[in-house]
Amino acid sequence: MSATFKHFDLKLVDPGFESPLTDLIIELDHLRRKSLGGTTHPHIFFQLKNIFHMLESIGSARIEGNHTTIAEYIEKRIDSGETEDENILEILNSEKAMAFIDENISDYPINRAFVSEVHKIIVKNLNKEGSKNAGQYRKENLKIVGSNHLPPDYTQVSVYMDELFKFINNKDAKKYDLLKTAISHHRFAWIHPFDNGNGRTVRLLTYAMLIKQGFNVSFGRILNPTAVFCNDRNKYYKALSNADTGSESGILHWCEYVLAGLKVEIEKIDLLLNYNYLSANILLPAVSLAKKKENITEREEKVLQIAIKKQVFMSSDIERLFPGKVHSERSRILRRLREKKMIITEKDNSRKYLIRFDNNYLLRSIIEVLGKNNFLPPNEEV
Ligand SMILES: Nc1ncnc2c1ncn2[C@@H]1O[C@H](COP(=O)(O)OP(=O)(O)O)[C@@H](O)[C@H]1O
Ligand SMILES: [Mg+2]
Repeated sequence: MSATFKHFDLKLVDPGFESPLTDLIIELDHLRRKSLGGTTHPHIFFQLKNIFHMLESIGSARIEGNHTTIAEYIEKRIDSGETEDENILEILNSEKAMAFIDENISDYPINRAFVSEVHKIIVKNLNKEGSKNAGQYRKENLKIVGSNHLPPDYTQVSVYMDELFKFINNKDAKKYDLLKTAISHHRFAWIHPFDNGNGRTVRLLTYAMLIKQGFNVSFGRILNPTAVFCNDRNKYYKALSNADTGSESGILHWCEYVLAGLKVEIEKIDLLLNYNYLSANILLPAVSLAKKKENITEREEKVLQIAIKKQVFMSSDIERLFPGKVHSERSRILRRLREKKMIITEKDNSRKYLIRFDNNYLLRSIIEVLGKNNFLPPNEEV
């Protein structure tokens, strides 16, 4: 069957008090309001956040056929710095776009300029997954592969997008926020405003909307909405297709799909803010694994175990590991660990240290252990 275009009105839906969707909205609202007095130190939290941003970006690129594995990406990103490999650049671009959103979201409205900027960042320097008109709406008609829905004529794109921005920024009651986020994701994909990069941009739009609505990521929370869509691409496309006609049931089903996925992801990631959980289930096992793989020495393992147990430690805390060694020798050991990026100081010139794991020696093990604890997409090979 050839794809056709059929207009439907952009509007909020009423899930009905008894529906599972209403339960999801209430539960997510509870998570949104929950105060996140996590016990994980900000330094450790931000390192984890960077890892999840990287995983998000890999996931988002993978949906559209970028088959870079986490292991390959780490290899290229950490080990070789500059790269011209298009697959790697695509993922790096998405990471940059997330950072752009984090930095700017509180000061700027979600509007055409904001979305254009995100689009420009994600397609930058790419050929196959680039765009002829970075940051600008498409100037031709197109089809979505495998879909019966034909996106609107290119002359109508800006009208539809203006309507979408109005919908996003309209001052509705807060209880509609999550429905608006889900509906906007579908509407954006349905309009398909760009010649390419619509999927990557819309997943970041969802990220931006959630932050705007109070799922705070500046400290306390990591959001990885892409995981909702990337864990099962067929389910994602099918749910989008169901909503393409604009039928009430299709839109409700789409919203339920998005919000159910979000709830699972948010609850999972919030666990990492509990330092007891994080240290026992992720950090300590990762350090043992790194030692087993001979990425770190026994001495490094011992210092890191203390670093993990204390979360913030000082030179005197490692004294018993090195009987007979004077303070200056311990300082040398700590300096070496800093050079190898296995520890960081709490502040510049501070004598307090924390574990650092975005380095060649520990990152792979951290990710492998995250995988064992179901924090990675299914079937991921690390
Ligand atoms: N049936 C559908 N209806 C609306 N949007 C869809 C449908 N199927 C897929 N999409 C969206 O289109 C995106 C692919 O569009 P594309 O412009 O190639 O994005 P990218 O270049 O980022 O992969 C998918 O990620 C998805 O968000
Ligand atoms: Mg594409």
